[in-house]
Amino acid sequence: MRIVIQNELDTKRFGIELAQKLKPGDIVALIGDIGTGKTTLTKSIAEGLGITEMITSPTFAIVQEYMSGRIPLYHFDVYRLNSEEEMYELGYEEYFFGKGVCVVEWADKILELIPQDSIIISIEYGTNEEQRIYHIENYK
Ligand SMILES: Nc1ncnc2c1ncn2[C@@H]1O[C@H](COP(=O)(O)OP(=O)(O)OP(=O)(O)O)[C@@H](O)[C@H]1O
Ligand SMILES: [Mg+2]
Repeated sequence: MRIVIQNELDTKRFGIELAQKLKPGDIVALIGDIGTGKTTLTKSIAEGLGITEMITSPTFAIVQEYMSGRIPLYHFDVYRLNSEEEMYELGYEEYFFGKGVCVVEWADKILELIPQDSIIISIEYGTNEEQRIYHIENYK
């Protein structure tokens, strides 16, 4: 599926709508260059899940847990990961195959660990500053 996002408000609407459909165990894999809006989208998913905590871009932690919403949210940012091995060290399977929703920024860095049925969102820049093109797999 291809979706044209016209501005940041569109990103927020999309994230909130996506959140309504998420179930425990779902994984949302985000792929896109710096500044394409992966964290912005994650924040909207969190909002849609009813999470009240502030979502930050973790510089020190690969994963942050937010428990205040309808379903737990595990927010991964694997940009600084040096190897897939580090995912095993942090026990990623507990998150990926647990009862929460995982959102993974820079999922292309650990593509081999991303289950086939994950919702994969590849984000490209569009033709103006605020436009983004989403290519989405496994999402209805
Ligand atoms: N349509 C849009 N959707 C999301 N963000 C947008 C959009 N248009 C402009 N922006 C701006 O682009 C920036 C996106 O930043 P954000 O941190 O979400 O990106 P990111 O993909 O997570 O970056 P990084 O790779 O550094 O983690 C924000 O400053 C936001 O205001
Ligand atoms: Mg980010």
